[in-house]
Amino acid sequence: MSDPTTIRRLYGRRQAFALRNRAQRLVEDLLPEVAVPKEGALDAARLFGKACLLELEIGFGKGEHLVAHAAARPETGFIGCEPFLNGVTGLLGHIEDDGLSNVRVHDGDALNVLERLPDASLERVYLLHPDPWPKARHAKRRFVNPGPLDLIAAKLKPGGEFRIATDHPVYMRWSVMQMARRSDFEWLAEHAEDWENRPDDWPPTRYGEWAAGEGRPIWYFRYRRR
Ligand SMILES: C[S@@+](CC[C@H](N)C(=O)[O-])C[C@H]1O[C@@H](n2cnc3c(N)ncnc32)[C@H](O)[C@@H]1O
Repeated sequence: MSDPTTIRRLYGRRQAFALRNRAQRLVEDLLPEVAVPKEGALDAARLFGKACLLELEIGFGKGEHLVAHAAARPETGFIGCEPFLNGVTGLLGHIEDDGLSNVRVHDGDALNVLERLPDASLERVYLLHPDPWPKARHAKRRFVNPGPLDLIAAKLKPGGEFRIATDHPVYMRWSVMQMARRSDFEWLAEHAEDWENRPDDWPPTRYGEWAAGEGRPIWYFRYRRR
């Protein structure tokens, strides 16, 4: 596995707008209760106070996808990572509205959390509509790159699943190419319908809904950790 310190990086904005009253309250009151500790080793017991299955979403946006899974499977612990503070408050609002106790939130780089989890500890990792960085000179910024993929491979259990969705043709081709080079993941697709259609157990995301609303194709990739 590549040295995680060589892949630590975060691109993009942290905050777009001043937080409104509710958002401010959620950040001050709820975030400390559900935040992933900023330092030290992580596991289910530290995060959820018990042994449980763990899943992690990288860049959850406003959190719709993560919350749908968390509500459907209350015994599984979900870790959401998102540096964009206006997105974090979106997820916090869902957690409060739905009374969810099985979600933990990291308001920063997913790599920082992945690094601190035990190897072979995650059932699933989700990377949905990652920032495409379409220019070739920015390709190293894409999350789908050998360093982050090595880390995801290490943290997934054998048989665990890595899910990628994108509506960007450059990112689609890039992801297929990067993943095809790897012997540690098996692509779970047999027919074109498998990547052209959103599976039933795959809740929509905000970016996915935008793309669909504009009639753009979305590609859904499921990879099993060998
Ligand atoms: C295009 S948005 C997609 C959001 C959401 N997944 C969706 O489909 O609606 C990509 C998100 O990834 C987040 N992101 C970028 N780099 C990240 C990183 N290293 N760790 C966690 N999130 C990251 C960005 O802040 C942004 O909110």
